[in-house]
Amino acid sequence: MIIVLNFGGQYTHLIARRLRELGSCAEILPFNTPAAEIIKLKPRGIILSGSPSSVYDKHAPFPTEGIFNLDIPILGICYGQQLIAKLLGGEVKSGKLKEFGREKIMVSDKISLFKGCNKKEVVWFSHGDTVTKLPKGFKRIAKSKTCRVAAFVSNNNQIFGIQFHPEVTHTIHGLRILKNFIYNICKEKKSWRISDLRKRLITEIKSKVMKDPVLVGVSGGVDSFVTATLLKVVIGKKLYCIFVDNGLMRKNEPEEIGNIFKKMKFQNFMVVDAKKEFLDALKGITNPERKRRIIGHTFIRVFEKKAKELEKQAKIKFLAQGTIYPDRIESAQPSKNAAKIKSHHNITLPRKLKFQIIEPIQELYKDEVRRLGKELGLPNSIIGRHPFPGPGLAVRILGEITEERLNILREADYVFISELKKANLYDKIWQAFAVLLTLKTVGVMGDARTYEYIISLRAVTSKDGMTADWARIPSKVLEKISNRIVNEVKGVNRVVYDISQKPPATIEYE
Ligand code: XMP
Repeated sequence: MIIVLNFGGQYTHLIARRLRELGSCAEILPFNTPAAEIIKLKPRGIILSGSPSSVYDKHAPFPTEGIFNLDIPILGICYGQQLIAKLLGGEVKSGKLKEFGREKIMVSDKISLFKGCNKKEVVWFSHGDTVTKLPKGFKRIAKSKTCRVAAFVSNNNQIFGIQFHPEVTHTIHGLRILKNFIYNICKEKKSWRISDLRKRLITEIKSKVMKDPVLVGVSGGVDSFVTATLLKVVIGKKLYCIFVDNGLMRKNEPEEIGNIFKKMKFQNFMVVDAKKEFLDALKGITNPERKRRIIGHTFIRVFEKKAKELEKQAKIKFLAQGTIYPDRIESAQPSKNAAKIKSHHNITLPRKLKFQIIEPIQELYKDEVRRLGKELGLPNSIIGRHPFPGPGLAVRILGEITEERLNILREADYVFISELKKANLYDKIWQAFAVLLTLKTVGVMGDARTYEYIISLRAVTSKDGMTADWARIPSKVLEKISNRIVNEVKGVNRVVYDISQKPPATIEYE
């Protein structure tokens, strides 16, 4: 396996995910895991991740001593590269010019790490500090306009540092660079296959829950659906599914979800209608994080109440959650060094309940969950469904959430999605949705002046939601969507299309 030491970078999990994509086992460990423990795991290589810290910060995370003496190849990425430079006698300085986004690097050594790459490569930078002096016994193998040492290697070809991020898709040959590291340099062997996963997960669930009843909260999304299906295979009718209708779902969604669960023969599928409770709690709230917190807390309350009823009736022992790997990362759970971006409430939820928690797919990424879903025979309408955030339309309505504004958004979103499906674009896009802005603008309809809301359309392509690019939807399709929304959705007189990438924008607006 390859070990990724986590210094708190936003992309640490992506590194592990890419390694699996390449067929290698990857384990993320805390940055300060002792060298003696690392060696026990017999890794073939070690990757030092990025970090929001600078190596000069008072509490900068450092690896434990001895890490460079294990005789195991090491690759430092971004902060990881700076760490290597600093700890082995080089020099790191706060760059006058911060590099952020796509950049070209000039590769001067195409033998090992850059084998098969071009002399000029497009890569993704995201850093302030840079390496200004190499440690003794190291040579530079790439540079950019503003970064003198974009990549380096030790003379014995064992320790590598790169300032850019090979794990994000914007680095065109990022996968090749990682592949060169794990297979050519570390001599790793392919060992990760999705086809073995189903069996392994079912065996794990069996050994944990035996034949005890399990409760699972389902949202209609692929993660909780796959979790529920795995459990159904193991315990059948002893599985209890709760779906909380929070009034923040898209048009027709609650009914559609109910129908699918029925069709898939889930015997104990229950809907809790909590629309009023959620909308009452959100009255007058405009702050994004407050919205998220209120929704999280209301969900806990509603879920807990229903769970307690069931607990008595069905002697429930376990609570299953469809947490996947990025949920843990985006909620900044695995490392206190990671910065918190948004509070994804799905991770913190029922930990307060007395059930034992099981999270069968917690190590997987979205595309792995989808492949597993396919293996389990789930319908395409679930597998291909665009991700939908736990707080639902609340984070797509900027400002106050009211029944009227929810309806405007639902109708606009419905038009957008239907047209994408008609144009065969839905499955090519990672996520598409409409957002209702707080602003109203002037328009003219017939001969009359209007003063109504703006709808922003957001559609992105992505591999895992961690980085994203705006989808190049043909202008003819956009035109039709815009015309239909303005003509059919009362309260909207203007439609805009969002062309921002993640980073620096996020996918959702709040
Ligand atoms: P952002 O907006 O952070 O979103 O770029 C990344 C991905 O996560 C989804 N998202 C959520 N999913 N609970 C969820 O289950 C949440 O609270 C949440 N917030 C964002 C978002 O839709 C995108 O796919």
